[in-house]
Amino acid sequence: MADMTKTATLSFGDTSLELPVHSPTAGPDVIDIRKLYAQGGVFTYDPGFTSTASCDSTITYIDGDKGELLHRGYPIDQLAEKSHYLEVCYLLLYGELPSAEQLEDFECRVTNHTMLHEQMQNFFRGFRRDAHPMAIMVGVVGAMSAFYHDSTDITDPWHREVASIRLIAKMPTIAAWAYKYSIGQPMVYPRNDLDYASNFLRMCFAVPAEDYVVNPIFARAMDRIFTLHADHEQNASTSTVRLAASSGANPFACIAAGIACLWGPAHGGANQACLEMLREIGTVDQIPEYIERAKDKDDPFRLMGFGHRVYKNFDPRAKVMKQSADEVLELLGVEDNPTLQVAKELERIALEDPYFVDKKLYPNVDFYSGIILDALGFPTAMFTPIFALSRTVGWISQWKEMIADPQMKIGRPRQLYMGETRRDYVDVENR
Ligand code: CMC
Repeated sequence: MADMTKTATLSFGDTSLELPVHSPTAGPDVIDIRKLYAQGGVFTYDPGFTSTASCDSTITYIDGDKGELLHRGYPIDQLAEKSHYLEVCYLLLYGELPSAEQLEDFECRVTNHTMLHEQMQNFFRGFRRDAHPMAIMVGVVGAMSAFYHDSTDITDPWHREVASIRLIAKMPTIAAWAYKYSIGQPMVYPRNDLDYASNFLRMCFAVPAEDYVVNPIFARAMDRIFTLHADHEQNASTSTVRLAASSGANPFACIAAGIACLWGPAHGGANQACLEMLREIGTVDQIPEYIERAKDKDDPFRLMGFGHRVYKNFDPRAKVMKQSADEVLELLGVEDNPTLQVAKELERIALEDPYFVDKKLYPNVDFYSGIILDALGFPTAMFTPIFALSRTVGWISQWKEMIADPQMKIGRPRQLYMGETRRDYVDVENR
């Protein structure tokens, strides 16, 4: 990794340090500051990690300027077009596309782990009916460490493998059951003759009184949503998983931490927030008011589903998602639905408005995924759980990569302390 011919010189005061520079296979060079404190007695300051590489990784690469997303080198649009979610899971986990035999074996292993320990139903029932499904997911996934003791030893590669398969396999069941519980319907058990996406749709929408026949176009759209969310490099939730894992915590606890982080509206919670915003806007004539609010520095309102920390040209996932949205909406014949009209007009205005153009704020993946999920019949509260189940493979792949890395250390950022310096305690009567 390190290109020892390249160094960077850092000078401050009387000190001058030569720092090694690593050249990646793609992306900008990286200055290695690991010895900076030991040799120079200073820290670096980078809140929000805007210029800091926290690890080396071989899984996903994003070129934000080009609008490119690669998994193990393969462009996301090719994967979304030609592959399917479980094949992408294999690619992320093991580094290469599977042979037909490897894929069959992998699908079989995932399918055979889709059921939950029966006692876990009690866990769901402990929640209030009006609990957000993300709250249930954080709890239930964390609780998996209490049910699957044979996959919590992170030093054992077989435990790590079994934990990975279990998480990928059980996440749709957990998400679907969180939904069923919140609407007061019986939980639907997985069916092993269905593919991953169809099984999830059925577990969400079938009832004992009436089965749910999965439309193949819906299943394809669902599978694409899973595929497009599968991994996204060192984003907030993935970094949370890595940081939690760096202490040696078990995989279920780490993924629960990732789910908790994903829930926020600036991250995975944006898909729910976006559709709620479109509904709040309500009609096309209200859009200018919301655009003005988004531009107003004194108003905290932001256009949800717009902007991205890394993509400054376009979000390649959004392109595919938009195409998928068009397919589903055409099939359902709901192109004239008011929310959709607001979405289309908002997209048009924002793409032309100098504020959004100058700041490079484009519709992101969440702008279109919410529209598809709404059309498929999901309530907004299920949008982020669906993101979480899709991203599980990314979290797990990054977790496995990190645990196997001999350079792994507990994550321990430093700080720029701006508080009081040492002072003596004052008794309460003298304050
Ligand atoms: N609406 C209005 N203004 C915005 C928006 C927005 N959605 N996003 C950024 N800006 C402005 C922001 O006010 C700032 O202006 P100024 O330079 O005048 O202070 C400028 O653009 C840069 O914004 P930033 O907050 O410094 O950028 P960031 O990289 O820290 O934030 C973001 C990225 C995604 C958190 C942000 O764009 C945002 O809050 N978007 C809405 C939420 C959203 O859709 N999130 C989903 C992201 S994609 C799914 C995922 O990966 O989780």
